[in-house]
Amino acid sequence: MIRAVDNGTGGLDDAVAVLRRGGLVAFPTETVYGLGADARSRPGLRRLYAVKGRPTTHPVIVHLPAASGVDELLAPWAATVPSAARALADACWPGPLTLLVRRAAGVPDEVTGGRDTVGVRVPDQPLAQRLLQRFGGGVAAPSANRFGRVSPTTAEHVRADLDGDVDLVLDGGPCRVGVESTIVDCTGDAPVVVRLGALPREHLEAILERPLDVRVDGAIAAPGTLASHYAPHARVVLVGADELGPRAEALVAAGAHVGVLAAPPLPALPSDVERLDTPGPVDQLAHELYTLLRDADRRGVDVLLAVAPARRGLGAAVADRLTRAACQPTTEREQ
Ligand code: TXA
Ligand code: MG
Repeated sequence: MIRAVDNGTGGLDDAVAVLRRGGLVAFPTETVYGLGADARSRPGLRRLYAVKGRPTTHPVIVHLPAASGVDELLAPWAATVPSAARALADACWPGPLTLLVRRAAGVPDEVTGGRDTVGVRVPDQPLAQRLLQRFGGGVAAPSANRFGRVSPTTAEHVRADLDGDVDLVLDGGPCRVGVESTIVDCTGDAPVVVRLGALPREHLEAILERPLDVRVDGAIAAPGTLASHYAPHARVVLVGADELGPRAEALVAAGAHVGVLAAPPLPALPSDVERLDTPGPVDQLAHELYTLLRDADRRGVDVLLAVAPARRGLGAAVADRLTRAACQPTTEREQ
């Protein structure tokens, strides 16, 4: 059921009731839509994992209502709040930043994937905030897509992916940013970026007045940032802008239905190539990225040739997502 709640609060009241009885509510955030369950309800969390199709060892982020004091806000969730976490939270919340901190006693294992850390964030989206304030607790929410697939950035995407398996979808329109939150692990001696995302690393470095390590590959702190991730059905191939024409021609000659995800100007391309309408400015590209990947599937593309933006600012997160989408599943697909 999709509910738009621009006016009135009926949808929100229903959403809170669903959460309280251990049900699932999909809701918009500024990054992507989340699939929410009461972060204190073990049955709710178990259903969340079942619907998502995600291994129970993979932790989920706890979404919290905006509040003036970070320490007070995090007290039920975090054993301690390191100074770097406090500085980042003070500067960035509400906003697309997830902090990993040591978990407080009593945080369900279903939230933490059995780890001794918990991911927390305060989303910057009015409808999400109204839901969280009204609920008055933490809402555990992964992106509202099935495991391994592209994250949803509209209520319609959620419906297309999860139809029937979610009790209520709050429709807040398209997500403002379009790629997931940046995750910073604050549990070690120095904070480390473990997922590139909506808040550029440069921005966080300016807040902390120090360079930040980025560890987003290999056996890292955030399970779910393994190689194959965010994948459409089409095979994604990353190419340089100058390779686009020849690669497209060769693939078309071999009988493939080819799509191109690259900012203009495009080179001459065979006429039956699907040109996805790719914006040049990187914030617009981030905003459109997951819709473009879905479009490629809708148009029956077999091979999607993608040119990644420069890896700075928000471009780092977009390039990261395209690289993961391009990685063929080997043993396991994430998220
Ligand atoms: O923007 C976002 O962060 C969106 C919206 C809905 O808030 N959420 C999202 O959740 O992207 P999800 O579950 O799709 O990705 C969260 C990532 C996963 O890779 C998960 O493993 C990692 O965060 N994560 C969460 N808690 C963690 C923890 N305690 N330790 C390590 N990694 C954690
Ligand atoms: Mg996800």
